[in-house]
Amino acid sequence: MKKKIIVANWKMNLGSQETEVLAKDILSGLKKNKNLHKIDVVLAPSFLSLVRTQQLNQKILGTKNQIALAAQNCFWEERGAYTGEISPLQLKNIGCQYIIIGHSERRQYLRETDEMVHRKIKIALELGLTPILCVGETFEERRTGAKDYVIINQVSRALEGINLKANQKLIIAYEPVWIIGSGQAIDPKETDYMHQVVRQRLLDLYPLPIIRNNIRIIYGGSVDHTNINNFVKQESVDGILVGGASLKATEFISMINILLNNR
Ligand code: PGA
Repeated sequence: MKKKIIVANWKMNLGSQETEVLAKDILSGLKKNKNLHKIDVVLAPSFLSLVRTQQLNQKILGTKNQIALAAQNCFWEERGAYTGEISPLQLKNIGCQYIIIGHSERRQYLRETDEMVHRKIKIALELGLTPILCVGETFEERRTGAKDYVIINQVSRALEGINLKANQKLIIAYEPVWIIGSGQAIDPKETDYMHQVVRQRLLDLYPLPIIRNNIRIIYGGSVDHTNINNFVKQESVDGILVGGASLKATEFISMINILLNNR
């Protein structure tokens, strides 16, 4: 069984002060947890709060047992004249290990295309970062029976021509778009099915050992402490991407504890 992962995506919900309070509450709440190393815990604050969150992480949890940091996005070049963008190299240099790429909110509001997603995945991997590639169908796509095709297509186009090396890791987050932020999670059996669809596509792209050792498939969309267990007990679910429920320290910590009890 793969090490499970839980990622808190704070989106654009919090100011710097609020982020600091939340990060402190979560990190302090995890401080005495001796089992934390059994799973991966990742926090994804806004760009503005990454450095501060990393400082708090080191201060509160020390160098051992640290949780990891993710950025919510990056640009597809390392450096250059790209006003307003943030490079994956800059993110790596401040201690990020993961980057969320292609979240449906970016695809929807920023018109992020599969081509852009592909370029971002490529550079993140080259720099030794772990991309969290988000894929998911809209309600309309599901209603019209196109869901499998949409997911296969998003995975294929994001990963086209990318050979994962033994030291490169990838996470694919399946997030049905209309479920995100709705408060109503999908049937875990459906998650299991969609994860099999992703896995099937991966089998066409990569050798089995790479899929086993380097790729995790996680679920996101209205997961909280009341339903997380239904998802993570599925063999095909390697972890959870959490939005709303990660904005409350007690809620997020109880999700972490449930995940740990599932080990
Ligand atoms: P949610 O968000 O948990 O609030 O549904 C999940 C996400 O957008 O990753």
